[in-house]
Amino acid sequence: MQKLEVFGANKLKGQIKISGSKNASLPILAATLLSNKKIILKNLPKVRDIETMLALLQSLGSKIKLDKNKTIIDNSKQNKKFASYNLVKTMRAGILVLGPLLAKHKSAKVSLPGGCAIGTRPVDIHLKALSKLGVKYKIDQGYVIANAPKGLKGNKIKFPKISVGATENLIIAASFAKGTTILSNCAIEPEINDLVNFLKEMGCNIKWISKRTIKIIGVSKIKEISYSVMFDRIEAGTYLVAAAVTEGNLRISNIVPEIIKTEINLLKKLGSKVMIKKNEVQIIGNRKIKNTKITTAPYPGFPTDLQAQIMVLLCKANKSSIIKEDIFENRFMHVAELNRMGARISTNGNKAIVEGNINFAPAELMATDLRASVSLILAALTAKGKSVINRIYHLDRGYENIEKKLKKVGAKIRRVN
Ligand code: UD1
Repeated sequence: MQKLEVFGANKLKGQIKISGSKNASLPILAATLLSNKKIILKNLPKVRDIETMLALLQSLGSKIKLDKNKTIIDNSKQNKKFASYNLVKTMRAGILVLGPLLAKHKSAKVSLPGGCAIGTRPVDIHLKALSKLGVKYKIDQGYVIANAPKGLKGNKIKFPKISVGATENLIIAASFAKGTTILSNCAIEPEINDLVNFLKEMGCNIKWISKRTIKIIGVSKIKEISYSVMFDRIEAGTYLVAAAVTEGNLRISNIVPEIIKTEINLLKKLGSKVMIKKNEVQIIGNRKIKNTKITTAPYPGFPTDLQAQIMVLLCKANKSSIIKEDIFENRFMHVAELNRMGARISTNGNKAIVEGNINFAPAELMATDLRASVSLILAALTAKGKSVINRIYHLDRGYENIEKKLKKVGAKIRRVN
């Protein structure tokens, strides 16, 4: 099994180019199933979750060609409707093929996503909302078996809770349903807007009618298009924290700063100097870091996917901080590992109290999920000496070329078998 060795503590300096967004690419790839034409996608990140989604599409009959900087998807002969457990178990986003398969073929059998370390993560909201479009379903041996003999029919649906995945599944399905669908209490993450832009370019009729309400008039024909996926805002946020925590000086490029203004404002408040340019931000870390109280929330709030990373920075604040995790029920697995490196973090339910003034000590560590893994790297970058991070397959699900990118800006990091 591969490990990462990190030798701290160097200040990171230079430029990091941000890759395409994993969380935007996944629903966009699922949405290509609506089409029976050729679609060219650019800027897909080279990460494991995208490979898994491409394998899932291939298993459903999509023809996929990987060119240097583009992925060509031909769905003219796409005809299968079965998404197996093997392909969906490692990646919850596999459930996103359910909406488009039902919209196009009127039936589908899709594995329930596998268990996930950060909480139970059910798909009840997806299923209940799809049933309002005319879908009948049952759960049998870990599979959702669903059909809509008369096809999907538009409806008014209010999500009981904000869910990124359910909003995406429903937007895709409703794009091909008969009539008009109004979805309210939608998630408004930038990745959802990217999906909407992609669908609109394909010829779908979609319009936001208020902050969290979207109107979709179903269409039956889709155009052949070429689309470039947005930047990965979580990757960008991770490297912003890397600069702050190592007292470095990084230019984070290929981004739209406006989209990550919550993160930029927080880092400024905590003491970093941040200069905003057109498609780039420069961040200079400060030795003195202020404490704060953060609660994770749906966009435009502070993202749960950056909670573990910001916790590392808060370990270095002048006083203790509080982090409340309001999205997932069990997303503090990194705490035990950070404490092994000398952090003093205690948790009580969904609240973590993070003592400040910590100098991390190097250690041998175990990665537990995607964002927890990267938080261990961040802590290791500041710890004088050698840290070893095991189980990095979690990291490879979502960070493209992380060692290469970090090495280029002065980190001592290497992958060993
Ligand atoms: C997406 C992101 C993930 C991010 C999360 C929250 C992708 C591929 N993943 O995940 O990185 O951390 O948004 O920003 O884009 N819930 C239910 N029932 C459902 C659906 C969700 O109870 O049917 C709950 C979840 O357990 C969780 C909360 O709602 O507690 C939010 O989940 P959701 O927004 O759906 O997250 P994902 O789409 O899975």
